[in-house]
Order: sequence, then C-alpha cells, then structure tokens
Amino acid sequence: MEKTWWKEAVGYQILPKTFYDSNHDGIGDLRGIIAKLDYLKTLGVTLLWIGPFYASPMDDNGYDVSDFLDVNPMFGTLADVRELIAQAHRRGLRIILDLILNHTSDEHPWFIEACAHPDSPEHAFYIWKDPRYDAAGRPQPPTNWASFFADSAWAYDEQAGQYYMKIFSRKMPDLNWANPILRQRMEAVARQWLDMGIDGFRVDAVAHLARDPEFQDSELPVNAQGLAADWSKFSNLPALFDYLREFKQTVLSGRDCLTIGEVGGGASPQMALNYADKETGAFNMVFTFDHCWCNGLEGKEIITEADRRVDVRQLKQVFARWYDGLGERAWPAVYWMNHDLPRVVSQYGDPIRYHRESASMLEAALLLMKGTPFLYNGEEIGMTNVDYSSLEDFHDVWVANYVKEARSRLSEEQILEYERRTSRVNARTPMQWSAEAYAGFSTVEPAEKVIGNYREINVAAQQTDPCSVLNLTRRLIQLRLSAVGKRLFVYGGFEFVEPEHPDLFMYRRFTATEEAWVVCNFRGETIPFSLPEDRGEYVFDNYSDPGFAGALRPYEARVWLRREDS
Ligand code: GLC
Ligand code: CA
Repeated sequence: MEKTWWKEAVGYQILPKTFYDSNHDGIGDLRGIIAKLDYLKTLGVTLLWIGPFYASPMDDNGYDVSDFLDVNPMFGTLADVRELIAQAHRRGLRIILDLILNHTSDEHPWFIEACAHPDSPEHAFYIWKDPRYDAAGRPQPPTNWASFFADSAWAYDEQAGQYYMKIFSRKMPDLNWANPILRQRMEAVARQWLDMGIDGFRVDAVAHLARDPEFQDSELPVNAQGLAADWSKFSNLPALFDYLREFKQTVLSGRDCLTIGEVGGGASPQMALNYADKETGAFNMVFTFDHCWCNGLEGKEIITEADRRVDVRQLKQVFARWYDGLGERAWPAVYWMNHDLPRVVSQYGDPIRYHRESASMLEAALLLMKGTPFLYNGEEIGMTNVDYSSLEDFHDVWVANYVKEARSRLSEEQILEYERRTSRVNARTPMQWSAEAYAGFSTVEPAEKVIGNYREINVAAQQTDPCSVLNLTRRLIQLRLSAVGKRLFVYGGFEFVEPEHPDLFMYRRFTATEEAWVVCNFRGETIPFSLPEDRGEYVFDNYSDPGFAGALRPYEARVWLRREDS
C-alpha cells in the first residue's frame, strides 16, 4: 500500500470561536490557536483542521461567508493566518481549512449584486425560481423541499421577486455550480489558499453541489409545515461528479494536499467511492455520518432510558460496512464527533458515573482503528454536553428554527432537554483549559457560556495525572505513531473480533508477522471476554491497576501487541 503523510496523520479539529481567546474580548481567535500550538504538539496530533474564520456575519458560525479570501476581524487578520501556518509548520503540524463551496452569505457582494440586478452575471451564480401562489395570491416556495435547518429550502427575495435556493439558513444562498464562471471563481479561491501554504481542505457540504434539475415537489411525506425532508433532491447527484473532476484538474492536480469531503446526507460507501476512489476520485477521504447515532436518540423528542443505550453491534456493523465498501480503493477517515454533533462522552459514554473511564475508552476504540482518526477540541479531556438551563443560551440558527416550530408541540422543558441531548451547540462551548474563571478560556465573560463542570474537567487538572483522559489519549497517539504502531494501526489489516457481541467493541490489527488486540467495554458493568493465550504484550489499559484476567471492568479498554522481535 502506498504510504502518505495523511494516512499517518492524527487529526484534530479546532473551532476558532471557542478554542482560546488571546485578546480578552470573549471570542476565541487565530492568535489563541497559535498560543496553544505547543499544547497540541505535546498532545501528539499532527494535522489541524481549523474551522471557518473567513469574513462572515456569523449567522451559521462562520459557514456563511461574505468574503472567502478575507478574515473576520473577530478572529484576526490575514497576517495572523500566515503566522499560524508558519508556526504550525515549524512544529511539524499540518493545517487544513474548511472550504465552503455550496453557498455564500447573503451579505456576500455576489449575492447583493444578484438581488439588485437580475441581469448581472452574479445573478446566475445562485439558484432562482419564480414563486407559486396560494389562493390569497401570496408567494409560495417553488417546491416543498425542506432545508437541513428545519424550514424551507427556499427563501423569498422581495427585491428580485423570486425565491432563491438555500438548503441551510436563509442567510446562506446556495451557489449554482452548473454555472462555469461561478465554478472558476470558487476554484480560484481554493487555489489561493493552497498557494498561501495550507495543506488541504475539509470540503463542507460537498454532497449538495448538484440539484435535481426538474425542481419538482417531493413525493415523500410532508411535516406540519408542508415540507418534505427529501435530501435526494440535492445530494450525490451525477452532475456533481463532473464538477469535482474539473475541481481536481484545476485545483488539486500536481499538489500534495489532503482533501476530505463531507458527504453525509445518505451517501453509501459505494457512493463514497465516487468522491474518494484513489484513482478516479477528487478527494482523499470522506466523512460519513453513519456511525454517529448508534443509539435511539437521533431526532427523538421524547425518549425512554432504553434510547440512551448504545447499540454496540450496530456500531460495529456500520464501521464494517464502510471498511468493506471502501476496500482497497479508498482510505477511511474515522471520528466520533465534530462541531455538528453532541459530545461523544455524553453520546456514547457515561459522563456522570464513569467520566474518566468512558471518555478514555472511546479514545482507545477510535485511535487504533483503521483510517485517519480525527479528534475534536475538548474530546481529549472528555468535555461533556451543556448544562444550559435556558434555550436563550443555545446560539444556533438550526436550534432557533427548530424551537420556533417545536413550541406548538412541546413544552419549554422538553425542547430544552432535547437540545441538551442532541444539539450541536453541545460541541461549541469554550474549551476548558483550567479551573480559573471562564475555564481559562478568556479573562472576560465569553460569548458562549462555559459549562459548569470546567472546575473538574479541564486541561490543567489532567496534565499531571498519568491516568487522565488527556494523558491516556496522548499515550494512544504515541502508540499509533510509534514504529510498530504505524505498521499495525496505520497500515495493518483490520477485523472485528466477535462482531455480534452486544457489549464489547473488540478488534484485531495485523500484518503477516505481527498483531494487536484492542478490547473495549461500552457498558458500565463488568463484562467477561476471552482472547487467545498468545496475544502478546499488554501495552495499554485505561485503569491504573491490572484488573481481572477474563473480564473488563466498566468502560475498560485494553490493548495487547505481539511484535516481530518479541
Ligand atoms: C456543514 C457544516 C455545518 C454547517 C453546514 C452549512 O454541514 O459542518 O456546521 O452548518 O455545512 O455550511
Ligand atoms: Ca479574542
């Protein structure tokens, strides 16, 4: 198998707004990331994915961009970006950025021009349709398609007298990739960032660049607002792969950069090969969403205790299906969470009774898997879901749209609980650096509220304890990137052990002459297990004492390794 730097990478995603505030205005910033590069270096990660810091009115946390080549002053300047790239590279850390191709902000000069002048070239950069009219003569959206953010996929522009397509917020008009001039503009944006020295992109919402050209109503059932959540109308459609071929040719060819496409929205492993086949795909990897909700919580407003239980068998099936589907043709990316998901220790662990154990077990399960692993800032100390007691604290356009719609059905308390369980706001609170005021994130009150448990769960408190989530995560990264680790965990084979086991997540990594066994208990109880006698040296445990021979303690993770020379 061909060896590349990105196969050997350990990724770490940073959300600038809540990572570290260097100038004490309550908002994380680029110089804050620079200030923490040494921390990241000692953590052992090798690849940083930095979330959007572009000029933006911040309707969707910076994914609504008003200038792709400029920096939002709340985060810093272009000079800070250059400094960040240089300082990271000096430490051997690579950097990838979010590349947002699907939409702009409605405050982008292109969209302002498009609304003002229907005959301008910019008008054709967006997707416009005439209204339908209801019985009272009021304009109605051209189709019944829902957006991803709990409203219509269309918004009306009074000035233009037309609807524009927007599959996210109304302040994020979709770009028309069928237009060759628009494509060239966006390709130039990507080239410019690569020329500036970044190492690649996480390509945001890339599955949606082509839309069903018929623009007909969906036949799927509609919700109370009359909208159908029919992602097939704008996901993974054939024309998209023509656009990506062009993108590969005009932007990526001849460059040693890493590209990862975000292709949730129902892409199968077979579909993923269209993006990331090592010969024919435009990208090196994709991020799938399929393993993120292997419990009963997804979209469930009222739950039972049973819904919280992780379906460990299903979780293994999802990974196995992707590994099998990608085979030798594409390289996997693996992760537990990102800025769009709840915190993984709250999602798949037990943050109350077994915080340290379950958070570190999840890291063991992830960091020795096949595929490039990505951590999300705060995951390495087991940051949890929010404790917010008011919906006012959830600053998110998706939450806002949902709350508006859900109030007719649910009580305030029910909505609050639903958001505390499922919302992406859970992942967007200030990074917990220390037990000082505001978690050491800032010296003034942060724009996003700090979670109360920062006094116990923080980086400083975990630095010295060898068995903290932080230090266990460090050890796992070191293990993965050691010489034998690279042979086994990066380039070795993979198979689940007892895939049907309902509680344990166990796998074997192997080469012709070496092997490793990773066993993880996903339950808060002791669970018996058995492995072959000759499983080699015992190299990792997330408990500080040896434990039982034939059973795993609550959320215990252990690793054995048999190397060539032992
Ligand atoms: C992606 C991002 C998400 C954002 C959306 C629109 O899914 O991860 O945070 O809201 O695209 O850009
Ligand atoms: Ca700041």
